Amino acid sequence: MSIIAPSLLACNFLQLEKECLMVNNSEADWFHLDVMDGRFVPNISFGLPVIQQINKVATKPLDVHLMIVEPDHYIDDFKKAGADILTVHAEACIHLHRTVQYIKQHGMKAGVAINPHTSLDCLQYIIEDIDLVCLMSVNPGFGGQKFIPHTYTKIKQLRKLIDDRNLSVEIEIDGGVTELNAAELIKAGASVLVAGNTVFSAANPTEVIHRLKLA
Ligand code: DX5
Ligand code: ZN
Repeated sequence: MSIIAPSLLACNFLQLEKECLMVNNSEADWFHLDVMDGRFVPNISFGLPVIQQINKVATKPLDVHLMIVEPDHYIDDFKKAGADILTVHAEACIHLHRTVQYIKQHGMKAGVAINPHTSLDCLQYIIEDIDLVCLMSVNPGFGGQKFIPHTYTKIKQLRKLIDDRNLSVEIEIDGGVTELNAAELIKAGASVLVAGNTVFSAANPTEVIHRLKLA
């Protein structure tokens, strides 16, 4: 059964508590929280104070996706804010191995995200140290973008890399996930589906989460 992680980036921030309770009461598994700094990506989202508030009501793990440069400075802060899984971008980390160890030393699961154009090669010497790979299936920075189809090839190749080494690393797909491509993504080897607009723009988000879960 796949893990469903609704991205709160697409929620109604005026109703943040209500949206969190919807996720709590749904079949979703994680809260996906997108932090953008306006430098690594051309957009600014939300940061630590918002995550601290979400953490007060969330009854499920907080999967925090950092789209920021120099994340090392903030790892301790995100742990304190309530992050359970902390994902950094390979492209944003000069010393990725050190950053990953730092995340794990803080008692969080470590994830590495890669942009659509980034090769899987950069995971070769880090895959055994991490809990999750986030394959970006859109260019990071905005919700509601169109899924990039070459992601399927990447999922299959990454699945092989993980299985060949007998690892249990999650493959998370982030961007443009819909009810139409969810089953195909799981079939290719994905284990975690992030969904922003597909969930929060729906008339009945709980029902959409239920259907994604069945994919
Ligand atoms: C994009 C973010 C995604 C985004 C997904 O930079 O990392 O998590 O919220 O949004 P949708 O599902 O609407 O493409
Ligand atoms: Zn994300």
